[in-house]
Amino acid sequence: MFIMNLISIFDLSLAEIEAIIEKAKELKKERRESKRVRRDLEGKTLAQIFEKPSTRTRVSFEVAMRELGGDVISLNWNELQLGRGERISETAKVFSAYVDAVMIRAYSHSTIEEFAKYASTPVINGLSDLEHPCQTLADLMTIEEHKNKLAGVKVVWVGDGNNVCNSLIGGAAMTGMNIHVACPKGYEPAKGVVEKAKEMGCEVVIGNNAEEIAVDADVLYTDVWVSMGEEGESEKRKMDLKKYQLSENLVHEAKEDAIIMHCMPVHIGEEITEEVMNSANSVIFEQAENRLHAQKALLLKLLKY
Ligand code: CP
Ligand code: NVA
Repeated sequence: MFIMNLISIFDLSLAEIEAIIEKAKELKKERRESKRVRRDLEGKTLAQIFEKPSTRTRVSFEVAMRELGGDVISLNWNELQLGRGERISETAKVFSAYVDAVMIRAYSHSTIEEFAKYASTPVINGLSDLEHPCQTLADLMTIEEHKNKLAGVKVVWVGDGNNVCNSLIGGAAMTGMNIHVACPKGYEPAKGVVEKAKEMGCEVVIGNNAEEIAVDADVLYTDVWVSMGEEGESEKRKMDLKKYQLSENLVHEAKEDAIIMHCMPVHIGEEITEEVMNSANSVIFEQAENRLHAQKALLLKLLKY
C-alpha cells in the first residue's frame, strides 16, 4: 500500500503544494467567518512525538486535529520507552496499530526516516536537523497571500543556512521563487538541498555580503543563530553570525514593500531587531497563524483522501 509522508519538502509535487495552499486559504477564511468544528477527520488520531521543545508546531497541530474533528496525542520522547532505548522500528510498528498518522520532531533527520521505514501510517517531519517542511508550507502560503504569486519572487535569507532555510530552498525550487542566502563561511545551507534545487532550475545564490544580497528582495527572512541541539557552540555561533542581523540597514536595501519573515521563536537583538520584527512590513505573526491552516490542509491530504 502506498503511504504518503511529508519528511522532506521535496516529497511534495508542485501541484500538491498548490492544492495545500489553496485548501489552507479556504480553511483560513472559513475559520475567520465561523469557527465551526469540521468532522472531516472524525475517528482519526494523530500522535506527535517531540525529542525537542516546540510551541507553534505542537499547538497548531493539536488545534488543527481538534478543529477537523479528530483526536491528537502529544508525547515527549523521554516519556516513551524510546527514552529507555526501545528501538524506533518497534515503536513505529506499535504506533501504526494505534494511530492514523505520526508527527515527529527529532534531532536527527534519519530518526524520522527510520520511523517512516517501519510505520504503516503517514509520517510527518515536525522539524529535524535537516528540514522543517511544515514551516515551508505556511511560509509559501504567507508569501503568496502578500505577493499574489510565488514564481519570480526574490526571497533573501539572512543568517544561518539551517533546517528552515533548507526546506525553504526546496519550496522555492518547487514554486519558481529565487532564493538568495547571505551567511558566513561554514553556515551555508545543505549542499544536497542546494544541488537538488539548482537541478530543478532554481536560482540559488549564496554569498557573504548581506547588504549586497538583500538588494531588491521581495521577502527578507531570518531564523535563530543557535538552533535546538547547537547550544554547545552557542558563543561561537553568535560571534560568527554577528554581521547577519535582520536590521533596518538590510530593510533599506530591499524593495519598499518587502515582507519580513521569521519562523519563530525570535531572539531579539541577535538575528533580528525589535524594530524590524514589529515593523509595518512584518508578517511574522500571520506566518505563525498560517501554520495552523497549512497543517490542516496537509492533514486532510494525508488522512482523508
Ligand atoms: N516555527 C516553529 O516550528 O516553532 P516551534 O519550535 O515553536 O514549534
Ligand atoms: N532553526 C530552528 C527553528 C526552530 C523552529 C531550530 O531548529 O531550532
